[in-house]
Amino acid sequence: PAEHTVFMSRPVLHYTANSTWLNDPNGLVFYQGVYHLFYQNNPFDNVWGNMSWGHATSEDLLHWNEHPVAIACDDREDVFSGSIVVDEGNTTGFGTPENPALVAIYTSAFKEGSGLEGTQAQSLAFSTDAGMTWQKYAGNPVLNRGSAHFRDPKVFRYEDSSASFWVMVAVEAQHQQVVLYRSADLKEWEYLSTFGPANATDGEWECPDLFPLPVDGSPDHVKWVLVVNINPGAVAGGSGGQYFVGHFDGVQFTADSDSLVEDGNTNLRQCLWLDWGRDYYAAVSFSNVPGNRGIMIGWMNNWDYANSLPTSPWRSSMSLAREVELATIGGLPRLVQRPVLPADVGPTIHTIDNQEIRDSTVELPQADPASVLRVDSVQVIDAEILPGTAGTTTLSLFGAPGGDAAMLLSFEAATSQLTLDRRNSGNTAFHEKFASAESAPVTLEDGVLKLRVIVDHGSVEVFAQGGKVVLTDLVFPASGNLRTQLSVEGGMATVRKLTVAAVS
Ligand code: FRU
Repeated sequence: PAEHTVFMSRPVLHYTANSTWLNDPNGLVFYQGVYHLFYQNNPFDNVWGNMSWGHATSEDLLHWNEHPVAIACDDREDVFSGSIVVDEGNTTGFGTPENPALVAIYTSAFKEGSGLEGTQAQSLAFSTDAGMTWQKYAGNPVLNRGSAHFRDPKVFRYEDSSASFWVMVAVEAQHQQVVLYRSADLKEWEYLSTFGPANATDGEWECPDLFPLPVDGSPDHVKWVLVVNINPGAVAGGSGGQYFVGHFDGVQFTADSDSLVEDGNTNLRQCLWLDWGRDYYAAVSFSNVPGNRGIMIGWMNNWDYANSLPTSPWRSSMSLAREVELATIGGLPRLVQRPVLPADVGPTIHTIDNQEIRDSTVELPQADPASVLRVDSVQVIDAEILPGTAGTTTLSLFGAPGGDAAMLLSFEAATSQLTLDRRNSGNTAFHEKFASAESAPVTLEDGVLKLRVIVDHGSVEVFAQGGKVVLTDLVFPASGNLRTQLSVEGGMATVRKLTVAAVS
């Protein structure tokens, strides 16, 4: 019946491969008006394996078209994560000055019989037709340090007043280190420096990124952000992304002392996290975006249960794209993230204005479930709530009719924590690690809790206080669970504004 169709349908605005597996976003690049999303893909199945780079393109970061596999595994190697640069200066000679090549720098995970079995080293592939077809470089690998865990190169162009060169950040995954190299032509690499271990280190470090951003939009105050994904050992358990704010001088990244947490693994909640939920991993930024705007995409999943997600024929999706900026928060430069959505989110299907709610529950959607979460649309809930005297204010998503099963997003005044709880949200039994509740510290601003919640089929992304705190969780509601409610316990809260809009 109708409800069943709703929940077995795929995410609307979150990229999935048509009928195969995907993990990390790779080679995110904007080129000639098109956003390219390459990604870890198993072309032959919907579980991890045969790693190759899948490919999709979009003009708005919301609607994607899948293309044939871009860089395929072969007898010698699996093609692991990496990045793409536009070789404007034709430093590689792969293109021409008029038609610069797109160059992918990826990790070759060498197989038996390759002569380099068990080694992970960095390799190149290039495209001279705007990313549609790719050729592996005959001189691969270009950077081999004889390591079994050296991977996930992210390359960018570094320029200062005296020089300009390529910089690679990659990981020595099991040493919890980011290693930096430089090159003039992407083929010969010179070691620069090492960062880490630091902060969260109870897992492998993977998929690093390093980019500059102005603080509060000021071009005179630029800081560098080092992103380090970690699995397991993230704040919500399993996979997650931490970051450091600091300085990069062309050789070395130095974290600001306020980014560094003593004894990070026992003080995980003091480390800086891109997301406090269970499902935002391997996040990296786009290269070649006009104006150097920061735009990131993460894999909306967690290695704890990734291969068991109850979807078919596809498995796994990407997060929404996020615009990232540095803003001064509590006196310190910190990342603020906002989901990329259409400029005019709408039409609005439900609104509350200045309503006081004391110890009671307000039903948000209309009676017709189809208008709340249609097959072809996602819900965007925007709310400004003054928790006031209330002990707990809870938004309940995917509620069972007449039952208490739901995904709960609640703010608890006593602890000032925002919690996303999917323990009783529908299908959690497919993996023992899936049922979970995760919380993030939130500071009310003038007494206000501001939320933007994006509810797609199978996921909830919460951006609190204008994107200062983010929580992302997958959810697989039972068929028919469609109620949205707001309940207030232990006092009175005021809903200054609440809108539910449909976006497709
Ligand atoms: C991260 C990761 C990367 C690796 C890729 C393999 O999720 O483990 O370190 O390159 O996935 O698919």
